[in-house]
Amino acid sequence: MARKTEITLPRVDDRLRSVGIIMDGNGRWAKKRLLPRSAGHIAGAKIVERVLEDFKAMGVHHITLYAFSTENWKRPKEEVDGLMALLYKYLDEVVAPKILRDGDFSVRFLGDKSVLSEKLRNKCIEIENMLTDAPFVCNIAFNYGGRDEIVHAVNEALKEGCSPITEEDIRRHLYTAGSPDPDLIIRTGGDFRVSNFLIWQGAYSEYYVTETLWPDFDREEIIKAYDAFYSRKRRFGGLDPEDSGNQN
Ligand code: FPP
Repeated sequence: MARKTEITLPRVDDRLRSVGIIMDGNGRWAKKRLLPRSAGHIAGAKIVERVLEDFKAMGVHHITLYAFSTENWKRPKEEVDGLMALLYKYLDEVVAPKILRDGDFSVRFLGDKSVLSEKLRNKCIEIENMLTDAPFVCNIAFNYGGRDEIVHAVNEALKEGCSPITEEDIRRHLYTAGSPDPDLIIRTGGDFRVSNFLIWQGAYSEYYVTETLWPDFDREEIIKAYDAFYSRKRRFGGLDPEDSGNQN
């Protein structure tokens, strides 16, 4: 039997340029092993690079990871502090060396950085500035909320004097400005919820939910998500070209 890492990854076409991931289930993964929740987050961070590499190999150019939501501040202080420290360590020890070594990913942070510690904020800015025109883009949604993003964008449009505000005015001021909307949003951990993730950009995304917990998200899972995406017919509110001549 082929080892999981030997599973060949399929190539995508223009229909699948951008993927968003709600990385849920770290806590349950840890609980199943009688470990603290922090161990689940550490295990979750460990697989991020491999997942990015796999999507890159498939030809997906934009990946958006939901790492910390505006609602996650409600978690116990110990867990919040742990997630902040984990992100810093990950950026410092994995992301920065990877950008220097491979030069393949530009990293952008979606969300309000102003409330992060100065040390973490500066690290995020340093990472963003390391490479701005790489062929692949990884967006890390951190202190991110879709509603917050829309309010922020509307306020920016008002400051510009837009009246009335158009969809394009809002789009221009989203944290994701310039990136394509996600074609596919994957949620691990089995819940059928949007959780305030890319609520503007995901208006016509295809959703794929798997029971698999984030730290266990492997190549087989990526291929299942790929197969699910390509089995869907995306109509964006219109009609399938095959049916458009049929008035009945
Ligand atoms: C949700 O699982 C996950 C999070 C709130 C944090 C996600 C963070 C990581 C995967 C690691 C850091 C990320 C990067 C980009 C380095 P949960 O804790 O809500 O799980 P549960 O539903 O099982 O409790």
